[in-house]
Amino acid sequence: MIWVVPKYIDQLFCLLSKAKGKNCKFGFNLPLNYYAYYMITIISGTNRRNSVSKKIAHIYQSILRDKGQEAEVIYLEDLPTDFVTTALYENAGKNKLFNPFRELIMQSQKMIFVVPEYNGSFPGVLKAFIDGMKYPDAFRGKKAALVGLSSGIQGAGLALSHLTDIFNYCGMHVLAQKPKLYHIEKNLTENKLSTLYHGLLEEQVDALLTF
Ligand SMILES: Cc1cc2nc3c(=O)[nH]c(=O)nc-3n(C[C@H](O)[C@H](O)[C@H](O)COP(=O)(O)O)c2cc1C
Repeated sequence: MIWVVPKYIDQLFCLLSKAKGKNCKFGFNLPLNYYAYYMITIISGTNRRNSVSKKIAHIYQSILRDKGQEAEVIYLEDLPTDFVTTALYENAGKNKLFNPFRELIMQSQKMIFVVPEYNGSFPGVLKAFIDGMKYPDAFRGKKAALVGLSSGIQGAGLALSHLTDIFNYCGMHVLAQKPKLYHIEKNLTENKLSTLYHGLLEEQVDALLTF
């Protein structure tokens, strides 16, 4: 949307730098918060109560805020419990409690999915949520960043691959940088991530803002 304006200003800055004989790379010449003119939504990818994903989503939101970008958060635990039978397929658009979630995704230009590993993939409720979105406009041409987490050693790597396939099918571009937060319990105390994992999320945020 309004992204084009900072993008062209950035390129102008770059050309001016080059004219002065300085090195420059498109997309990296303005403060990061200069790029933040579009709506970003974080989706906490499970409806499990008191989930770790929810904590990670909060941390992600605060990292974005520190860089000057506000973001909405969708917690799948807030979905109406009957949405699978009342908001999908022939019922699309009919569930008044589910519609605000559809609208929020429709308005979002960039999305971050925090994805816990469940049985070697991502939670079924997340797929049902995706199936409840407007096809193809909800995702086509938009951009996504994925974060995986697990108790085991995969960090939801397979889950992120499965999800990437689905989003690419829907026409959404997925950022290649996908942190896989394995052994999450050892790296999260209270609401604080280990320095390593926090750093990985910060790097992904920087990449997403210029993506
Ligand atoms: C239904 C279910 C399936 C799980 N399957 C896996 C798995 O395949 N591999 C793994 O490493 N951890 C698995 N776990 C552990 C979760 O990845 C881990 O507890 C994670 O922190 C859960 O995220 P959450 O708190 O957001 O639900 C599973 C947990 C649940 C509830």
